Order: sequence, then structure tokens, then C-alpha cells
Amino acid sequence: MMMEGFMLIKFSALASHILADYCLENSCLFKSKSVLELGSGLGLTGLLLVKSLDLNSYTFTDHHSKVLEFLQHNVTINLSPKQEKIGEYSTKYNNTSVQIQCLDWEAFHYSQKYDIILGADVVFDRRLIPHLINVVLKSLNRRGKAIFASTIRNVDTYNYFLHKLEEKKLKIECTEERKHKGSLSQTDVSIVKIITFQIEEEIRTTQE
Ligand SMILES: C[S@@+](CC[C@H](N)C(=O)[O-])C[C@H]1O[C@@H](n2cnc3c(N)ncnc32)[C@H](O)[C@@H]1O
Repeated sequence: MMMEGFMLIKFSALASHILADYCLENSCLFKSKSVLELGSGLGLTGLLLVKSLDLNSYTFTDHHSKVLEFLQHNVTINLSPKQEKIGEYSTKYNNTSVQIQCLDWEAFHYSQKYDIILGADVVFDRRLIPHLINVVLKSLNRRGKAIFASTIRNVDTYNYFLHKLEEKKLKIECTEERKHKGSLSQTDVSIVKIITFQIEEEIRTTQE
């Protein structure tokens, strides 16, 4: 993957890196699509995708003011000089319209729908999982797809996430596991699970 020109990003964020790789490997899913990213952090996934894919729009989101400040800085320095600044949190890079928004999963108000929803390392707190899933349910287009990459720290938290997806009738399309060997020792291996899911057909039909 091309990493030139990316500043102020530390590569400790394994899930965001792996999510970007997965999306680039499946670039056909993204052509002219609107993408919402939840919990963008410093913005690594989105920056790579906006630079590499032909998207209609990419919306970075987070809830923390300091994180949003860093995110805005990263977007500004990494998408220039090709960006056309439209407003403080809205810009255009080639044909992609790029937004940065404050979105708190716990205080979510219905807004617009997106073709693809991404999340890197956003499944980490059992208490937040129902809120996170609620945002996906309210923001995903009828035939849209959500793609999450999660570093597995606590298997129970991840299994709870899977259970909640099932309970809310979000259908898992595919899951994949990628292992990343760390630099500390032979046994220092991180596991990242990638999962893609959609709204089930019967729920879609009742929405129509
Ligand atoms: C583990 S970090 C992952 C950041 C980035 N996706 C990455 O992989 O580097 C989780 C992110 O979720 C955000 N977050 C945590 N709670 C949130 C909430 N209630 N609403 C929105 N974002 C939240 C944090 O600010 C943080 O940026």
C-alpha cells in the first residue's frame, strides 16, 4: 500500500490499517459510493481510501473534541494540495466530497443514509455496542454494507457484538481473520477480525 505523504499518523492503529487494506482489496464495492466512518480517530483509514478510491463522499466522524481537532488537521495536511476547501469541515478531493462531523453514538440523531459504513477498532466497550449498532441501523442504506475491523482484546466483548448484530437482525455476510506479528517476540501476535454485515431482507422490506 502507498503510504507516502501521510504525516502525523502513528502506525500503532492496526485495525484502521487492516480495514483500509481490506477496502482497497475490494475497491469495486466503493465506486461512487457514499461512505460514513464511525470513530475515525486520527483518520488513517479514510485518508487512504479518499486518496485511492473513486468515492462519491467520505464522512469522517468522532465524538471527542481533541480527536476531531487532530482529525481536521490530518485531513487538511494530507489531502492538500488537491483539496478544494468548501467550509471548515467540508472539502473536496478530486471527485470525492469529504466531511468531518461530530457524531456521538450515545447521542445519535437520525440524519442521512450511506451506502457503506466503516468502523476500525470501535468494538471495545460492551456498554457502547447497542448505541453503535443503533447508528448503523439508522444510517445504512437499504442495500448498504457495514464493514468493521476489530482488534480482539476481549473475546467476550466481541461475541457480545456478534450477538447484538443477530438480535437486531443485521445479517453477517462474511468474516475474516488477519494476524499481525508484533515486534516484541514470536508470540506477540495481534488478531484483527473483519466483518461485513447488512440489514436483513425482511427488515428492508418493511422499511420500503
Ligand atoms: C480505539 S479508537 C479507534 C480509532 C480509529 N478508528 C483507529 O482505528 O485508529 C476508538 C475511537 O472511537 C471514538 N469513540 C469512542 N466512543 C465514542 C462515542 N460514544 N461516539 C463516537 N465515537 C466514539 C474514540 O474517540 C476513538 O477515536
